Amino acid sequence: MTAVTARAHPNIALVKYWGKADTALNLPATGSLSMTLDVFPTTTTVTLAPDAAHDEVVLNGAVREGVVRDRVVRFLDIVREMAGSRTAAVVDSVNTVPSAAGLASSASGFAALAAAASRAYGLDLDRTALSRLARRGSGSAARSVIPGFAVWHAGSDEESFAEPLDAPDLAMVIAIVNSEEKAVSSRDAMKRTALTSPFYPAWVSSTTETLSAAVQASRDGDVERLGRITETNALRMHAVIQSCDPPVRYLSPVSVALFDLAESLRADGLPVYATADAGPNVVFLCRPKDADAVAAAARPLAETMIARPGPGVEVLA
Ligand code: PMV
Repeated sequence: MTAVTARAHPNIALVKYWGKADTALNLPATGSLSMTLDVFPTTTTVTLAPDAAHDEVVLNGAVREGVVRDRVVRFLDIVREMAGSRTAAVVDSVNTVPSAAGLASSASGFAALAAAASRAYGLDLDRTALSRLARRGSGSAARSVIPGFAVWHAGSDEESFAEPLDAPDLAMVIAIVNSEEKAVSSRDAMKRTALTSPFYPAWVSSTTETLSAAVQASRDGDVERLGRITETNALRMHAVIQSCDPPVRYLSPVSVALFDLAESLRADGLPVYATADAGPNVVFLCRPKDADAVAAAARPLAETMIARPGPGVEVLA
């Protein structure tokens, strides 16, 4: 019986991915930049089941049907096609990130699944090929293959993978505002934004420029410049999301208060910058020595967790 276990961590984007150039191949409209975290790992075991007629998907101990299972089966089909196999599999995944609350559970989930499934079906993929494969499951998963800071390139199927980026020493303070499932998935909201927001073309062109500036700031080790770019890019993403029809709003009043907190801490001389993915949780970017002070300031508003750059995807056994 072939069983392979892999582990991956979520990542938080400093320059966001919001919009696809190709839905079938999951190619992004723009490149993006992220930090893979050292907290909230997903551990996934893929066991080949030659006698089974269908795949089985177990998430956090419960057998899953419907859209969650379909998404995993579609991903396994891609791996099976690459491997020339028709064998069914059991996927058993344990996710410690609050699922679907904008804390990138799909990123760690599909990065771990890509590593475990490709190995279980006998493929020997290098990191670039693994990042391309993980992208097919969830765009941001391409970045969770990479340790620490990563840039995920836009472009063709061949060109669109993530690779490591030099960055200054940074920490993230995660403020968990709400860990319930969000009402509109990032996939649906992305599609709606591209189809209905008059601001979408400006988001795409400005983010392309923003990414170059962020990569340069990161290579220069300029925390303040990288931080300012991060916060502006997050607010631009939420602005374009809120401008679609019907509108989607992921930020809650507490999220907005946390963005205000970053501004008031900066006014007090503490360089800290806020970002948020497709959910109400806010993530602060700061120097590691300032992380405790940022967490203490945020704690009256939300539960906090300090994260540092974490490992890329790893095959455990
Ligand atoms: O990977 P997806 O399809 O869940 O999209 C992720 C979108 C954001 O988290 C909002 C931004 C990003 O770059 O991670």
